[in-house]
Amino acid sequence: MNGTVELIIDGQTLKLPTYVGTEGEVGIDIGTLRSKTGAITLDPAYGNTGACKSAITFIDGEKGILQYRGYDIAELAVRSTFIETAYLLIYGELPTKDQLDEFSQLLSQNQMLHADMRFHFDAFPPSAHPMSILSAMIHASSSYPSPVTHGKPAREVFPFHAARLISQVRTIATSSYRKAHGLPPSYPRSHLNYTENFLHMMFSLPGEEYVPNPEIVRALDLIFLLHADHEQNCSTSTVRMVASSQANVFASASAGVCALWGPLHGGANQAVLEMLEEIHLEGDDGTKFLNAVKNKDGNRRLMGFGHRVYKNFDPRAVIIKEQCDKVLGQLHKSDPLLDIAKKLEEIALHDDYFVSRKLYPNVDFYSGIIMRAIGIPMDMFTVMFAIGRMPGWVANYKEVMDDTDSRISRPRQIYTGEKLRQYTALSDRA
Ligand SMILES: CC(C)(COP(=O)(O)OP(=O)(O)OC[C@H]1O[C@@H](n2cnc3c(N)ncnc32)[C@H](O)[C@@H]1OP(=O)(O)O)[C@@H](O)C(=O)NCCC(=O)NCCS
Repeated sequence: MNGTVELIIDGQTLKLPTYVGTEGEVGIDIGTLRSKTGAITLDPAYGNTGACKSAITFIDGEKGILQYRGYDIAELAVRSTFIETAYLLIYGELPTKDQLDEFSQLLSQNQMLHADMRFHFDAFPPSAHPMSILSAMIHASSSYPSPVTHGKPAREVFPFHAARLISQVRTIATSSYRKAHGLPPSYPRSHLNYTENFLHMMFSLPGEEYVPNPEIVRALDLIFLLHADHEQNCSTSTVRMVASSQANVFASASAGVCALWGPLHGGANQAVLEMLEEIHLEGDDGTKFLNAVKNKDGNRRLMGFGHRVYKNFDPRAVIIKEQCDKVLGQLHKSDPLLDIAKKLEEIALHDDYFVSRKLYPNVDFYSGIIMRAIGIPMDMFTVMFAIGRMPGWVANYKEVMDDTDSRISRPRQIYTGEKLRQYTALSDRA
């Protein structure tokens, strides 16, 4: 495509420049549309709208490609770790040994919550959802500036705040779990890495040494890595929108958590397990349920199958399935829900209904199963997604902050309400 397209509107021809991305995707720059014609575009849910240029993540849904900063997700999954990948996403390059050490050290230095934050935890009712605690506590942590960062410009303190968010999202998540389960607080250990420390802070018991199972550590680290960024999804767009007002990174990340909470976004992994539980309670092995899905009986869907962007396969699902089999094999877990999941997968992958509609397992199908096997409660599944996604949110925040052309995000609308009318006094209203 050449550098301009022509739009004819009310007989007037408007030349609009095109912008071609690194991988050949074409965007039509409509920046002059309203000023030249008075019209705007209408694209609810933004399916056709590029809201930004970004150098962080590339997805080709048709080909099943996902790349972070130009590195293929399958290669990162085998060769990298969540923390190294977090650095790559935020700073654009794989770290040198010294950079990685420094980053890890910064994460360790920032992992403890301010002691006064325990009062916030105490104020939540036992039934509080971990996602509501997470968003509130991330926001609250901006009220406890460290002496290192206090009063300094956002750009200067960014590395500290980035480390604090990535480190403390884990501390907040595990603290809310321990409070809900009546367990005393558990503090990170300096000899454990990020993911080992997550497991330690979740599951260690007073007076007992917690030794993380390496296969579980690897599986969880992989789940975090595979969720670390996914281009301009609902929560990431929310983070960028809030960041565009120059709100701080804590406020922006907290808004991302709120957007992620919904079942159409981060809540899907929980929906997979709820579906499996329901099938089990009905005494079905999955066959009856799949027939209902295929007959569109009750508008049921096979949760964890299909994807809006990936139409041939979800590259993350291919990677996580392998890990799922390893973890289940290692743990020798006998779980009727896992048996149902395997049966559903086996039937659906060979059934014409699913094959002809290009419905394949997505990352949520397997990550939910692994998390259940590890012992993570269902209401924390979306929190696990948030821990993984934090580097992506932080990287996108940085991209907005560093963009000297950035303006506050402010979409327009097509008004469909009443035309101008006169105010009616209360006594005259019917
Ligand atoms: C992810 C999802 C919303 C994508 O939807 P989409 O791309 O808009 O696809 P559509 O809703 O247009 O569906 C296309 C066809 O496949 C069917 N379909 C899509 N996902 C299905 C599923 N999970 N189970 C059964 N049928 C499904 C639709 O009923 C429709 O069938 P039809 O052509 O006979 O009407 C959808 O696949 C889904 O609901 N999956 C389950 C939820 C889930 O796992 N979400 C996590 C995503 S990471």
